[in-house]
Amino acid sequence: MQGVFISFEGGDGAGKSTHIRFLANAIQAHGREVLCLREPGGTRIGEQMRNVVLNPSNTDLSYEAELLVYEAARAQLVTEVIQPALERGAVVLCDRFADSSIAYQGYGRGLDLSFVKAANAFACKGLVPDRTILMVSGVSASESLERATHKSGADRMERAGLAFHERVNEAFYQLAYNDPRRIRVVSSADKKSQTARDVFTQVADLFDWIESDCLSDDNFFTQLDIQRETVGRTEVS
Ligand code: TYD
Repeated sequence: MQGVFISFEGGDGAGKSTHIRFLANAIQAHGREVLCLREPGGTRIGEQMRNVVLNPSNTDLSYEAELLVYEAARAQLVTEVIQPALERGAVVLCDRFADSSIAYQGYGRGLDLSFVKAANAFACKGLVPDRTILMVSGVSASESLERATHKSGADRMERAGLAFHERVNEAFYQLAYNDPRRIRVVSSADKKSQTARDVFTQVADLFDWIESDCLSDDNFFTQLDIQRETVGRTEVS
């Protein structure tokens, strides 16, 4: 069986992790090996690199070095985890991948785009996701930055400023516009169940059971909203 590689992209705070987990559970329930990864990170060495780029005290990290650290973490993840997984037929769901370097380091930091693309190709050994879900929250960059800061204290990238994050958001739309076959835009502004349904719709051609087992079952997605209500009640009591 051939492996399937799906990446999830979006500005900070677009809510990717819930939907990655939900899709992963459905794939696993169909007896398929599934790996949920995140970038930067996902390997022992990559997690160390994650700390370098996200640690707010690394204010002196140059933009060029930043790109190379993201690419190094990616190269490690591709070689150590993603390639072998795809070769054994697994499904790989990755929270961010090479498009993030184009959006954040290329458009956000203003680094040379053709260099960023070449660095991506080198780090990925030419591997491109079968599908990319671009999740957009419908929330303004300023509001999502405020939320991120409030939640856990902003990391180094979240401190890059509003104009930077607006350029990043715009870049993702541009990437999706340029490659609509691979990159599908899904809004996460609506109920979780609707967002999940949209995600499943956008990957339905990659799994022959999604249409019959999930999309045609009215109750399948509503469990996500119920989970949220339950969490809400727990917090109140
Ligand atoms: P993370 O906490 O994983 O953010 P999120 O939940 O928004 O995915 O932090 C990853 C940060 O690194 C995020 O701000 C995006 C940024 N990033 C880049 O700038 N370039 C890259 O190539 C990647 C993969 C991420």
